[in-house]
Amino acid sequence: MKKKVNIAIIGGSGYWSDRNHNKNILELKDELTIQLTAIVDPIDPRTVNINNNTIKLCTIDNTVWINPKDFKNTDEIIKNLKEKLDVNLVIIASNPCAHFEYGISCLKYGINVICDKPIISNYNASTSIAAASHIREQYNELLEAYYRARRQYPNLMFHSILRRRSLESFTKVANELNKVYKKTKAGINNMTMLINGGVCKLPAELSNPGAHGYLDGVGSLSHSAYHYIDAIAWFVSMAPGKTVEIVPKLNYITRINDYLDSETYTSIVSIINASQDSLLKPKLSKETLGCELNVGFTFIMNNKENIQVGIISLLFNHISFTTRINNYDKSVREPGDHKGGGRMSQSFIDVHQEGLQNWQIMKNNVALGDNTILLQGRRHPSIEGVGFECKNYENAYDTGISMKELLAHAIKYIAEEKDLIGHSVIRELPEERLAIDIYTSCYELIAREYNSEPLQVPGIKI
Ligand SMILES: NC(=O)c1ccc[n+]([C@@H]2O[C@H](COP(=O)([O-])OP(=O)(O)OC[C@H]3O[C@@H](n4cnc5c(N)ncnc54)[C@H](O)[C@@H]3O)[C@@H](O)[C@H]2O)c1
Repeated sequence: MKKKVNIAIIGGSGYWSDRNHNKNILELKDELTIQLTAIVDPIDPRTVNINNNTIKLCTIDNTVWINPKDFKNTDEIIKNLKEKLDVNLVIIASNPCAHFEYGISCLKYGINVICDKPIISNYNASTSIAAASHIREQYNELLEAYYRARRQYPNLMFHSILRRRSLESFTKVANELNKVYKKTKAGINNMTMLINGGVCKLPAELSNPGAHGYLDGVGSLSHSAYHYIDAIAWFVSMAPGKTVEIVPKLNYITRINDYLDSETYTSIVSIINASQDSLLKPKLSKETLGCELNVGFTFIMNNKENIQVGIISLLFNHISFTTRINNYDKSVREPGDHKGGGRMSQSFIDVHQEGLQNWQIMKNNVALGDNTILLQGRRHPSIEGVGFECKNYENAYDTGISMKELLAHAIKYIAEEKDLIGHSVIRELPEERLAIDIYTSCYELIAREYNSEPLQVPGIKI
């Protein structure tokens, strides 16, 4: 390696930084010249006792804690990282609504960025139409800044890592769709994504802060649903067929106020014998009460004559079956991040490519527990390959490319001062366009429904 890579993590005191970024940096220290130079977070990383990897890494690397409150603005923080601490890679792992301000500032100062999903969210996008539309504007601003920065620093990287894209089962489906598309021009004409988040939050927990909380005025779409919006964009790009435009429609939505009114958490409460204080409904802002939990969209696929050629359904149920056994604990910010928290990651994905093939991905796991994916494919007899293919992936997260390998790959390119190439999983900023367009339109619909405005948004060009 030519150059040492000095890393700063925004939101480095959080759960995902500990279980993923900081763990990977610790493990990669044997093979790469890297240092966790700074953590930018309102929480002192050394005070979060359950974050063992973070505490160990901060001790080895003598990591500097930067509290954003001590700086005038984000630019001052990033300038300090660059000029005083010589940071050349920033990993953004804070609450999604803070990603943009750090990202744009890093581009201004020519620092490489790896950004967790979603690359952008916006405060109160669930209830304000203007805030929802602003996501698209921020993406455009980020893109302009990226092209501008690359004129000065030609190898500068800004990319997001999406775990679904690295799994062998998802990659296999994308490749099979693309193979048949290249041969026949057949496109996806029917796709269903049914996702169950398996989250159970007790009323008192709804006022907890954090990336998977609701105080920023955004809900499940900014949590895990983005993975599946990205998968829709990805699969459609692999086999668009005659589709030139997709038109999103909102079919149902359950918001926090509906959840509180329905009291559908009571069966879990009685099973785990939750204390009375867990049932106290906190005083929440109208923006938090309006956050989306369960949402259902359809996306009409139109050809250039505006004739419908297909349909996609995305049903994202954040609140669904859960194996939660953990009782209420005031000091626990996100019960789903703990063993026994019961956060599920179940999906059923069914993709049809005209009459030529059908692929199904069934993912079934509890966060922090075993994870399996069942992949099934059926091909028309005239299509090359076996008629029926079935594979069961035990430990599905260990298949494909690991998060550690991706980080190592990016670090090597920064150290060698080369332009990042090589992994299809790594999404450079311009490649997020379609996913961001869909995601923004979904938020626009959610906010329109909240404001009793007509449930219509313009079609999205693909
Ligand atoms: N939890 C997961 O399984 C998971 C998986 C993949 C990706 N992610 C992504 O990682 C990111 C973090 O998620 P998490 O689960 O670690 O959440 P978390 O709430 O545990 O951590 C977020 C951290 O960001 C800090 N933070 C909040 N606002 C900030 C600001 N303005 N500046 C600096 N720091 C700020 C918080 O204090 C906290 O320490 C999110 O973008 C999330 O989508 C999480």
